[in-house]
Amino acid sequence: MIEFRNVSKVYPTGTHALNKASLTIDKGEFVFIVGSSGAGKSTFLKLIMREEIPTSGTIIVNGMQLDKLRHRQVPMLRRTMGIVFQDFRLIDKMTVYDNVAFAMRAIGASTKAIKKRVPYILELVGLEAKAQSYPSELSGGEQQRVGLARALVNNPKMIIADEPTGNIDPEMSFEIMELLSEINKRGTTILIVTHEHELVESFGRRVITIDKGVVVSDTVNVPAVAQS
Ligand SMILES: Nc1ncnc2c1ncn2[C@@H]1O[C@H](COP(=O)(O)OP(=O)(O)O)[C@@H](O)[C@H]1O
Ligand SMILES: [Mg+2]
Repeated sequence: MIEFRNVSKVYPTGTHALNKASLTIDKGEFVFIVGSSGAGKSTFLKLIMREEIPTSGTIIVNGMQLDKLRHRQVPMLRRTMGIVFQDFRLIDKMTVYDNVAFAMRAIGASTKAIKKRVPYILELVGLEAKAQSYPSELSGGEQQRVGLARALVNNPKMIIADEPTGNIDPEMSFEIMELLSEINKRGTTILIVTHEHELVESFGRRVITIDKGVVVSDTVNVPAVAQS
């Protein structure tokens, strides 16, 4: 599903953000990407989304070799992924319902399909009662659940989240992670960048550690709570 072969990224400033990274992430995996600030985590995600282009190496995402992808094919790639942002990026003037519906309209979904799908997704993230609320009327955790609903509504193959819990309190962060786990159980691949060690440790998942642009470890974590 995602394959990096010897991928390096050097920004025009000369910064080596990623250095010969090789790894494979299979369909249906749930992966945490960790590392200190400036390690290259966001660069790694941007390369997958083709927001950045590697300096060398090969990247394959959902069957598409990204260096062979034409500009006009990029939207097709992006449609295979749902993206969750640290700062939510909701439209303040739209209700929760419309924020989610908007993502479907953007890809040309029919009114009938939207009417069927949006309530289903809002229920999935536990926000059916907030459908007519505006983002400013929600807590940070709720706003991020709207972000998640929007990422999910077009049924992507994978969810990519760059520090999705960076702006919400720890309890809510845990709920967001549980929700992502639930979504993963339904078959969606999940990639999450985070530096919340406690969260990572409480979920028994694959953890890829990046340090100074190098993948320094790739292990499956045993959750502390599940050992007793
Ligand atoms: N657009 C850019 N231009 C130049 N340097 C960048 C750019 N984006 C990131 N960098 C640099 O690349 C390195 C990795 O950045 P990033 O991938 O954002 O790290 P992380 O997400 O792990 O904090 C850092 O040194 C950062 O300053
Ligand atoms: Mg980052």
